[in-house]
Amino acid sequence: MTEGVLRIGVAGLGTVGLGVIRTLAAHGDLIARRAGQKIVVTAVSARERGRDRGVDLSPYAWVEDTAALADHPEVDVVVELIGGSEGTALALAERTLAAGKPLVTANKALVARHGRALATLAEAHGQPLLFEAAVAGGIPVLKALREGAAANGVARVYGLLNGTCNYVLSRMESEGLDFATVLADAQAAGFAEADPSFDVDGIDTAHKLALLAALAFGTTPDFDAVATVGIRAIDKADIEQAASLGFRIKLVGLAEARDGKLFQRVHPALVARDHPLATTGGALNAVVIEADPVGRLFLQGAGAGEGPTASAVLADVIDVALGRGGLPFGMPVAALTALANDDGAAREARFYVRLSVADRPGVLAELTAILRDQGVSIESLIQRPHAGEGLASLVMVTHVTAEAAMAASLAAMAASGSVHGAPVMMHILDF
Ligand SMILES: NC(=O)c1ccc[n+]([C@@H]2O[C@H](COP(=O)([O-])OP(=O)(O)OC[C@H]3O[C@@H](n4cnc5c(N)ncnc54)[C@H](OP(=O)(O)O)[C@@H]3O)[C@@H](O)[C@H]2O)c1
Repeated sequence: MTEGVLRIGVAGLGTVGLGVIRTLAAHGDLIARRAGQKIVVTAVSARERGRDRGVDLSPYAWVEDTAALADHPEVDVVVELIGGSEGTALALAERTLAAGKPLVTANKALVARHGRALATLAEAHGQPLLFEAAVAGGIPVLKALREGAAANGVARVYGLLNGTCNYVLSRMESEGLDFATVLADAQAAGFAEADPSFDVDGIDTAHKLALLAALAFGTTPDFDAVATVGIRAIDKADIEQAASLGFRIKLVGLAEARDGKLFQRVHPALVARDHPLATTGGALNAVVIEADPVGRLFLQGAGAGEGPTASAVLADVIDVALGRGGLPFGMPVAALTALANDDGAAREARFYVRLSVADRPGVLAELTAILRDQGVSIESLIQRPHAGEGLASLVMVTHVTAEAAMAASLAAMAASGSVHGAPVMMHILDF
């Protein structure tokens, strides 16, 4: 270690990696005053050395074997900005901590999958493992949970954790467009990846939710336990119907701990138009933390992009410089509790349901009888003639009802022969 200088090695020179280099160049003096020492990039690595990245990389050593950045003699801290839960990112993370060096990463997939093992390694070697940028980009939500709300019992944490989904849903509503049109536009504008599945299928949100839940409830991230539904099936008819009922459709990641069990779900849900999540439009992210004794905290901001993500990465590097890296999940690994998975079957909610039904006498009575038999009561019901031949569209909002009763009702409706195609059902977020 050079006196008064913290030397970082940056693995990955894409959006975030270059953001870190540019932000250090722009704010280096201020960062040095805050960190108590100068922070400099000494070595970098990526896949293709020759690629023009619009940044002069000549001051930095190029490391051909990315995982070897961990052992570079002029690197005190490794910043992993490659991505992916396995392969080079995992090898570099393990090698860095095993070499007794701090690791800063923006990689949610890596920490959601291997968080416990990496935290164990970090603890064994007395090194920080920091990943603020992995959840909600520029929003300091992990710091809020780990530090600001450290004295609280968290009851619930939920939010909009994927900017691409929020952007697509917001534009579908504001411009009356369908999913495929907005997604294609978003891809052309660089808001969505060429392979959008991680985003639109909810996987990215699930990675982030697993990390939020781990910090909120003092448990190990359990990505496989997150029940995940994305936004591909959202029809513009649902956006319009939701709007006419006073709601917006959002892709919500929600985690709650109750009776020793952890509930984690990512799904499109209807949010009242005056809820802070509903007013979080475009590509913004937002997180709500409900905790005792602090009450409700609401954080909103840019969840991705070069600047916001670099901001979070460098905040972690500053913490390392100041020796306040802390413990990855806010407590020693041995103190993390294992919570059984709550699959949600016993939960209750109001539901939005849209059905295409045969437009003939008796159908409504048949369907309402199914609901009655399952103990589901209807708060409102709208019937509209449908574009399809001989079909009508039924949109209903239920009173609070058990999820299991709702699922059984839909199965019985589908089996009745009166419902055309798959019924659409979404939760209404009443908190
Ligand atoms: N973009 C965001 O707004 C954002 C926000 C929050 C978190 N993150 C996370 O930050 C990380 C980086 O994201 P990004 O958007 O910056 O990605 P990106 O633009 O695709 O850049 C990835 C970089 O990693 C390098 N790379 C990929 N595979 C590699 C390998 N096997 N060995 C060595 N280098 C490899 C690439 O090298 P080449 O350039 O040579 O191909 C590229 O420079 C990811 O974990 C992502 O989830 C991103």
